Amino acid sequence: MSIFVHEKEKLFHLTDGHQFSRVLKFVPGVHKREQLIELYYGRALPDDATLHLDSSLFALASFDGINQTSPFVYPVSGHGDFRPVACAVTEENGTQSPCFNFVGYKVAQGKPTLQGLPATYAETNEEATTLWIYLKDEITSLEVTLLFTVFEKLHAHTSTAIYHNAGKQTLRLDKSASCVVNAPQGKEIMHLHGGWARERQVERFTAPRGTFSISSNRGASGHDHNPFVALLDPTTTEFQGEVMGVSLVWSGSHLMEVDLNAFGSLRVVAGIFPCAWQLKAGETFTLPEAVLVYSHEGLNGMSHIFHKLYRTRLCRGVWRDKERPVLINNWEGTYFNFNEEKLLNIAKVGKDMGLELFVLDDGWFGKRNDDHSSLGDWEENLEKLPNGIAGLADKIHDIDMKFGLWYEPEMISPDSNLYRAHPDWCLHAENRERTQARQQLILDLTRGDVQQYLIDSVSTLLSTGKIDYVKWDMNRNFGEVGSAQTSYTHVAQLHVRYMLGLYHVLETIVTRFPNILFESCSGGGGRFDAGMLYYMPQTWTSDDSDAVERLRIQYGTSMVYPIASISAHVSDVPNHITGRSVSMKFRGDVALGGNMGYEMDLSLQTPEDVAEMRAQTQRVKKLRKLMQQGTFSRLVSPFETRNCAWQVSNEDLSELIFFVFQQTVTPAMYPIFVQLQDVDEKAMYQDEEGNVYAGAVLKHKGMRVLFEQGQGTKDCASKVCYLKKYDSVL
Ligand code: GLA
Repeated sequence: MSIFVHEKEKLFHLTDGHQFSRVLKFVPGVHKREQLIELYYGRALPDDATLHLDSSLFALASFDGINQTSPFVYPVSGHGDFRPVACAVTEENGTQSPCFNFVGYKVAQGKPTLQGLPATYAETNEEATTLWIYLKDEITSLEVTLLFTVFEKLHAHTSTAIYHNAGKQTLRLDKSASCVVNAPQGKEIMHLHGGWARERQVERFTAPRGTFSISSNRGASGHDHNPFVALLDPTTTEFQGEVMGVSLVWSGSHLMEVDLNAFGSLRVVAGIFPCAWQLKAGETFTLPEAVLVYSHEGLNGMSHIFHKLYRTRLCRGVWRDKERPVLINNWEGTYFNFNEEKLLNIAKVGKDMGLELFVLDDGWFGKRNDDHSSLGDWEENLEKLPNGIAGLADKIHDIDMKFGLWYEPEMISPDSNLYRAHPDWCLHAENRERTQARQQLILDLTRGDVQQYLIDSVSTLLSTGKIDYVKWDMNRNFGEVGSAQTSYTHVAQLHVRYMLGLYHVLETIVTRFPNILFESCSGGGGRFDAGMLYYMPQTWTSDDSDAVERLRIQYGTSMVYPIASISAHVSDVPNHITGRSVSMKFRGDVALGGNMGYEMDLSLQTPEDVAEMRAQTQRVKKLRKLMQQGTFSRLVSPFETRNCAWQVSNEDLSELIFFVFQQTVTPAMYPIFVQLQDVDEKAMYQDEEGNVYAGAVLKHKGMRVLFEQGQGTKDCASKVCYLKKYDSVL
């Protein structure tokens, strides 16, 4: 049991019995109305103990009519709470003061699906318990259902809200968040910021007075701020201490606010970017869910929980638990300049190296020889590919490789037959110029006919059965926001309607083609979020494939997202973005820390490099199950040191892989030792060269880091060590 209800006390206790307890309770509030407060969120409490949590302070404070300290679970505007709220509603007469009364609750095993939205799921009813708390505003008859699901064995819980207008007037939901978390002052904020080619950089600082927010109004979760935020103690490290993480299962515009007010009340409000949603009489609006993870075992403790939940109960389909193929993608190798022969030459070297999947990237359709045209015209360019995609796919299959294809279905080039036929199918504002980015516009996925076109056009090629993998790209964000269909022209609302339209398209396509492996992409990692992982179990992490930059990008991404979702390719040098040249070994070792592949013209590489890549590929195949399904821990941060280290281990700690990287050399330094986590202290381990290590020493003294000969004096040195238990007791 993971949700306990104390009816008399109107107290709800959500717990996994190990990591966390969250206690919600109704207390008397203004006008003798009961208000739901978050009485406790922290380390797991025995259920009996929750009755001894003191709520009197909050009850008193709320009689005042001004309440700036109570930890409300779902605060509403217009009631003397001047902090950021979860809910703001405007009635037809302009008033903005809904007041929710407690109507009832329900607890049941299992987890309901969220209509039209991606969400974590339970495979059996026993895996999860859900609490529904029903609230209602008597004047407007607006009903809000707060939904909390606890995954007991996965140590996480989710939170969302469902609005239903049971009244007669149209209501405008100016703000409708998914969750609120309260904490005492003195916390730090950690979040993942970035930009194109430097996504998900870790930033951590003391929560400032006022409101700090991370957001996207791009129509995608974006490169700038991943929809994730954590509160942690100043003493929390990767390995110990308290941390509360909030991650949104949403791929569109979002807003996450962290407010510290004058009285020391700290509050996180997380949800969609406020969108002034028009809720007509009888309509329901379901918010995307937020996943909440509390850990007292440091940032790694938090990440372990996110990783397992997202890998096993967010990702779906046949690829969820399968080892991912090692691929070769032609993009950085050829860009738009290829023909069938060139592609086959790359594929053949790849096959010889042991690669399993050949991916044809941008430029195979319409008359696309650069990025100025043809998005929307998804017919093969027969000049480049005289045998079409089907013919090329056959030839790739003939050499016993799988075949994958890049698409950018959500986009339309003004220079395309599709645009000439349907100039009103893109997002645009009437009578205004259409601003292009990368010479392209965005299809209006709020429209049913455009959604259907997209489903049909993508399905045509996929139905041939010759495509095993799809890279689903999306390379620009919103400009003018408007639609030729005027029924919902409100700008802000389109941000949500676009995403709901896209989710409908994705659900239809992934259901129709269950065996295809889908990878999402958005100018690199501009839409790397939990929403997309529900449809596509892996994501192109960044266009920046420079191995040094990748250490930081992959390290930051791993805060929330599982390794099996983080695609990492070895590319050519000098790197196409940074111009940096580093060894093939270093590039391979960094990419092995993700879902590994190659991205270059293999036919132009030296025999030595091909031999090294062949050896790397063999190693990936040996280690990938552990990499993709094991427990990943960060050991040394590339943001704080010149080094970087991480490890992966299996459940019974009989196998582990240790990675250490030296970004730049520090001369005349005491030898580096890195302490491993997730090691059996009672066991002995052996590496591939026969060296023997005591688990206790690896954990408490650390592994002495010796780079291969010559490497210790160089920048960009690396070591990957696979260790196996060979004697269980010392
Ligand atoms: C985006 C992707 C790249 C590549 C190009 C093709 O930038 O992130 O990997 O697919 O588009 O145009």
